[in-house]
Amino acid sequence: MMNSRLRSLGLLLTRIFRHGSGRLDVLATGLVLWAVSTQGLGAAEPLTGLIRTITAGGVTDVSVTPNVWLFVPKGQPATPFVPAGPFTARWEGSISADLRGDFTFQVLAQGALKVSINGALALEAKDTGPALAIGQSVRLNKGTNSLKVEFTSPAVGESMVRLFWTNREIPLSTLPLAQLSHESTEALRRSAGVHEGRDLFLELRCARCHQTPGSVPELSMDAPEFDGIGSRRQVDWMAAWIRDPQAHRAGTPMPAMLSGEGSAEDAAAIAAYLGSLKGEGPAAVQPGAIETGKGLFEKLHCGACHPAPGTSDLKPHQVSQKEVSAKFTPGALAAFLQKPEQHFRWIRMPNFKLTATEASDLAAYLHSVADPAPAGDPAKADADRVEQGRKRVASIGCLNCHALDGVKNEFTAKPLVQLAPASWKSGCLAETPSTGSKVPRYTLTADQRAALQAFGASDRASLDRATAADFLERHSVHLNCRECHGQFEGFPAWDHLVGKLKPEWATRFIRGEIAVKPRSWAEYRMPAFPAYAQGLGEGLSTLAGLPPVTAPDPAPSDTATLAEAGRKLVGANGGFGCISCHSIGEFGATQVFEAPGINLATSFDRLQPDYFHRWLRAPTTIDPASKMPVYFDEEGRSPLPEILGGDGPKTIQAVWEYLRLKDRMAKPE
Ligand code: HEC
Ligand code: HEC
Ligand code: HEC
Ligand code: HEC
Ligand code: HEC
Repeated sequence: MMNSRLRSLGLLLTRIFRHGSGRLDVLATGLVLWAVSTQGLGAAEPLTGLIRTITAGGVTDVSVTPNVWLFVPKGQPATPFVPAGPFTARWEGSISADLRGDFTFQVLAQGALKVSINGALALEAKDTGPALAIGQSVRLNKGTNSLKVEFTSPAVGESMVRLFWTNREIPLSTLPLAQLSHESTEALRRSAGVHEGRDLFLELRCARCHQTPGSVPELSMDAPEFDGIGSRRQVDWMAAWIRDPQAHRAGTPMPAMLSGEGSAEDAAAIAAYLGSLKGEGPAAVQPGAIETGKGLFEKLHCGACHPAPGTSDLKPHQVSQKEVSAKFTPGALAAFLQKPEQHFRWIRMPNFKLTATEASDLAAYLHSVADPAPAGDPAKADADRVEQGRKRVASIGCLNCHALDGVKNEFTAKPLVQLAPASWKSGCLAETPSTGSKVPRYTLTADQRAALQAFGASDRASLDRATAADFLERHSVHLNCRECHGQFEGFPAWDHLVGKLKPEWATRFIRGEIAVKPRSWAEYRMPAFPAYAQGLGEGLSTLAGLPPVTAPDPAPSDTATLAEAGRKLVGANGGFGCISCHSIGEFGATQVFEAPGINLATSFDRLQPDYFHRWLRAPTTIDPASKMPVYFDEEGRSPLPEILGGDGPKTIQAVWEYLRLKDRMAKPE
């Protein structure tokens, strides 16, 4: 299992970061580091994914992408780095085969497409609509084969590509991600710098001071609000944080704002002022149970993003919890755990929908393993000091990021348009920051500075172009999605999630709006990432070449007949007996021993129809470890000839038509 995980995009990136030495690497995304990756990985290891080159309006963008998939809604750019309008795309790399054999490639495409294997044409297609175009049979050698796909978008309207393959043993499936690879190129390295620089620019909230017009959602990324912060955070901790945020959390987007003489005094005054901003304090919490909290920490996989208590070794994108006793006022930790996004919309800590008891148990546990809060009373705050702090807060740039009602922000910096490329070696990007100036101090590595400079030298138009696939690829790294998905048994590996779910359902699920827990038997739960949900939910579709809004799926004219056949099929009496593992609505599974399945009543709203068909046809081509039985033979025929003549696709459609009825489903046989 470890091996296949290591091959996945996310883990490669994660590993690369572990080799980085910079303090800010918590924020770096991977995209660039594909480029420097060979170093950390050993040059012989091929890199997962294919190189994709997109050209539009004379501008070219090169990146690594997991598969030959693309969806570009009408009027939108193919990537944030090229303008909207007609474009060409080219995928290049290798596809490996376990054994020599003959394969057929098939595609759904809006636009014109050509697939070549080892230089020979394998498939040519144009505007297929919903019916797959089928290529001629081509021979793949054992080991690697060169793969090249060329695509020209339609002149207007949406573009899409979704490539499949099949051979005698493998039913129609998307190309297995682990079998696609590429070698890095100079063009890729150049583009990667700009991609990385843009990601840093957004994550570090540079635009909060250097005013930036644009429509990318991250331009509105916020910081914890100051209103009422005095009731939630300890004054002494705030003073220490403000002096040197990086020392408390490597990778935080907050720069050090004070330097030189008097900075300790200023930090203390600012903290005193923030401490005076009282709001509604946290509700009284009952004392929690440390042992229960410890159990919850493990069951809920908090360790995906936090180091095990006692370890100081931080993996990329992990955050230490050892300061919680010094940081949170009494009761505030439990309140934070219950609603992390309450005072900070774009926080990366997700919402686990903890009950009050769970939150206080977890808080008790975390307090028990954290560094003790410093003894003694907090520094006394007199009115002068508070006033001095207020003035600093209003004048040195804190309020560019942090919201505070009723205080006028007096800080300004040059807008982005005035930052000429030549100046990206000074100011915030100076190697040795000047002390005592109003310029914030960042702790960037040389690579990060170079990436920001590459971005500064680009046309920066990418700040006005958002695509869901780009959002997903970057934030799934920042938010550690792959540190849970693919690491633990029982819920889907990351690769299986791309292209699986209807985007509307995925968005609502990630936002935490769906009360039903698909895997109702399990103790784990998917935490909610409300601010990020829409981009992630749509990206899980568009990255796979599927639209961000579910396409209409009209019921066939014989839907009633099919649904009735479907009812037989899921039942145990002459059907497949799906009901033995899966509940269907209120009808409970009959014999769940080791492979409980998801309640099928949610399938129609949750699953992409194409995924449902491919899953039923051959679950192990999607998830080789699946415990779900394979029902159909190599030719795709159903083992139940008495139902629908044993026609495979029709049989699967019949189950789908039954599931379409949702709460109107009749009891299975
Ligand atoms: C807290 C506000 C603030 C933030 C956040 C900030 N800057 Fe600055 N930056 C300044 C100020 C102030 C200067 C000095 C020049 C000026 O007044 O604009 C400056 C100067 C610069 C300069 C040199 C400009 C020149 O003409 O000399 C560059 C380049 C720059 N910043 C880039 C960035 C980047 C990239 C980021 C994000 C990593 C960033 N800044 C974040 C406030 C900020
Ligand atoms: C997907 C990643 C992720 C998961 C999973 C996660 N956290 Fe967090 N957590 C974060 C991030 C990121 C922060 C920092 C938030 C900030 O202040 O910007 C954080 C902050 C915290 C803090 C505050 C630490 C501090 O010093 O400010 C606590 C406490 C915490 N998390 C507890 C938990 C618990 C308990 C769980 C499991 C129920 C959990 N986290 C699961 C990402 C995660
Ligand atoms: C470029 C944006 C930016 C600027 C400028 C900035 N901060 Fe922050 N600050 C943040 C972010 C983002 C966080 C959340 C920490 C994290 O996610 O790692 C934060 C966290 C904090 C916290 C901890 C709050 C909590 O609940 O965890 C305090 C206190 C704070 N900042 C004070 C200040 C003060 C005072 C200033 C001015 C001297 C300032 N910040 C300037 C972005 C900024
Ligand atoms: C702390 C661990 C954890 C993290 C981090 C995490 N997930 Fe999940 N995720 C889960 C669990 C557990 C489930 C299964 C929930 C269930 O079925 O009740 C799940 C389910 C899902 C599902 C529904 C899948 C299905 O087949 O029903 C989606 C979509 C999803 N996660 C997306 C994400 C994204 C996107 C991220 C990163 C932003 C992410 N997850 C991060 C634990 C996690
Ligand atoms: C031996 C038990 C078993 C039987 C019988 C079974 N399944 Fe499954 N099924 C599973 C398991 C285990 C999974 C994977 C669940 C997961 O991803 O957590 C699964 C997954 C699925 C999924 C996709 C899961 C999702 O995320 O929604 C569908 C659809 C499905 N099964 C339909 C069926 C249908 C229809 C039948 C009957 C034709 C059937 N299953 C028979 C065990 C079974």
